[in-house]
Amino acid sequence: MMRLSRSIVLVVVLVSGAGGMVSAVARSMGVSMVAPRALAHMALTSLAWRPDGHSFWRWDGSPVPGGSRVHYLAAGPEDGRPLVLVHGFGASWFHWRFNVPALAQRGYRVYAVDLLGFGLSDKPLTQYTAQLWAAQLADFATHVVAPRAPCKAAIAGNSLGGFASLAAAVVAPEFIEGVALLNAAGQFASPRAADADPGALADAGVLAAWMAETRARASELARRMVLFGSFQLTKQPARIRQVLTSVYARNASNVDDELVQSIAAPAEDPNAAEIFYRIVSRNALEPSTTIDALLARLDPALQLLLLWGEHDPWIRPAAADKIIALRPSAVRVSVDAGHCPHDEAPAQVNDALVAWLEQLPGAKLIPPPEPIVVSARWPPPAL
Ligand SMILES: *[C@@H]1O[C@H](CO)[C@@H](O)[C@H](O)[C@H]1NC(C)=O
Repeated sequence: MMRLSRSIVLVVVLVSGAGGMVSAVARSMGVSMVAPRALAHMALTSLAWRPDGHSFWRWDGSPVPGGSRVHYLAAGPEDGRPLVLVHGFGASWFHWRFNVPALAQRGYRVYAVDLLGFGLSDKPLTQYTAQLWAAQLADFATHVVAPRAPCKAAIAGNSLGGFASLAAAVVAPEFIEGVALLNAAGQFASPRAADADPGALADAGVLAAWMAETRARASELARRMVLFGSFQLTKQPARIRQVLTSVYARNASNVDDELVQSIAAPAEDPNAAEIFYRIVSRNALEPSTTIDALLARLDPALQLLLLWGEHDPWIRPAAADKIIALRPSAVRVSVDAGHCPHDEAPAQVNDALVAWLEQLPGAKLIPPPEPIVVSARWPPPAL
């Protein structure tokens, strides 16, 4: 009851505030490739935001006729051991700005990919489910990563991207030997046990809870109006900054104009509001799978790292506890950060990732006799 009324108040605040906020963020970012940005104490290099992106791959296995354009950034030696990085809800390749250069420098072939519906990838009006992103990532691993890779890949995902990475590892164990979850989203079969916010997607977390709670009473149209209204606010740069500051729980100094812009720009796509609605409502009302179900189907040999910002207001540490309980072989590394540890505490996360990557077996890829097309049949099998 408490939670219900709190959620409704929040939604009302979100919607009523929607008209009033005005963007104050200058859109002045250039197209420079890598802006060396030496942070005094850790000498971390950062990527620069590029509105026109880096590389594009046509995903023929997409449910969209004619395929979909997928944006990614590749860095590091081409024959390096492969690592795929997957952003969370509303974010993009750019959220790995402090990780890509450091990991590439350590010899890894790093791919930061934009999930369908986000960043600079296509934003078709399709069903956004774990299956969709799993198929995208599995095909990406097959067609972009594997052909040059000396061994199987590791994949690391934050929030929604963690959930998608786990699903991809279930679909494509022949290409993926390790998964690192950074404050992964996703529902558990018994959510109360984990004390995790089932939505866990920015404002979408609150909205998802509200959607689930009003399921019986509010019409589809009413829910749609609330979500569209709140999206108009959620995508305002001032609001993005405010939300990020609240989830960079220990140190918000990396919440800067460039990060805000990297989230605000893709939200200007004409389909962005509808996609926001579809993801949030699907997540709240009929999640396509649970973390429990994915863990149960994970290859026993696959290595799982939980790289967890322990001060995440959205996805509580209890979610990591629950994953460990379900998969006792998983390794947990705690980070003194909130929901996006890779950008809030990049040096800590880079070190932990490298330590984990170094001990992965580096299993050889066995070249298949025929090219594998993971998503040749659509829809893919249920997860
Ligand atoms: C906060 O993060 C910034 C950038 O990573 C860093 O320069 C600063 O030292 C950090 N502050 C604290 C108190 O850790």
